[in-house]
Amino acid sequence: MMYDKKLIIPGLVIFVWLMTLPFWYNSGKATAAPEVKIDTPVIQEMAEKKCIEDKQYMREAHMQVLDDWRDEVVRERKRVEVTTGGKTYEMSLQNECMKCHSNKAEFCDKCHDYVAVDPYCWDCHIEPKEKK
Ligand code: HEC
Ligand code: HEC
Ligand code: HEC
Repeated sequence: MMYDKKLIIPGLVIFVWLMTLPFWYNSGKATAAPEVKIDTPVIQEMAEKKCIEDKQYMREAHMQVLDDWRDEVVRERKRVEVTTGGKTYEMSLQNECMKCHSNKAEFCDKCHDYVAVDPYCWDCHIEPKEKK
């Protein structure tokens, strides 16, 4: 049997592209995040509506921030974080992040549903009671 070399290469390219399609699809979506609501009672009270670090950083690196917090609390028993802005925060998912972002469904979940990630944190950590 004869192989047509002109077809093998394009065939391989298409195969690789198909196999990695879910990856391209998801990475595209991750950069184009949906609009999320920040109008919670605690954030409404803030004079300057800022997260613990700037918005772009939080958007890209909040998972890393949470990972670092967990490591510091669990391994080093350190619970207070001083950010670049000189402000002090408790390194806690429930007591700090979710105090401001108490609208989990309209905030965390909305983004995560969009990019199809489902953090398992809430198996143990307590979700905020939704305040409508
Ligand atoms: C003191 C209140 C406060 C705390 C604590 C806080 N945030 Fe925020 N967060 C905000 C505000 C306000 C914004 C909107 C910032 C802006 O628009 O510049 C925001 C923005 C964000 C964004 C970006 C949203 C977007 O539209 O792209 C993410 C992600 C985020 N926060 C996650 C977290 C996580 C995770 C924690 C805990 C590690 C946390 N925040 C702690 C108030 C807070
Ligand atoms: C602006 C959109 C956006 C908002 C708002 C947001 N996230 Fe995320 N989050 C993401 C994206 C995108 C990923 C996946 C990143 C990846 O896979 O590289 C992610 C991943 C995570 C992860 C890691 C999950 C895993 O399995 O790897 C955690 C934990 C997390 N987010 C917590 C939160 C919490 C808590 C909030 C609300 C306070 C929040 N996020 C709000 C976009 C968002
Ligand atoms: C199997 C149960 C379990 C799961 C799942 C889990 N955690 Fe935790 N986490 C704990 C326990 C227990 C502690 C220690 C509590 C303490 O000492 O205050 C902790 C502490 C933390 C802390 C520091 C203390 C605090 O109040 O938040 C952070 C931040 C944290 N976890 C983030 C996460 C994130 C993000 C996820 C999901 C990606 C996650 N955890 C999933 C059990 C869990």
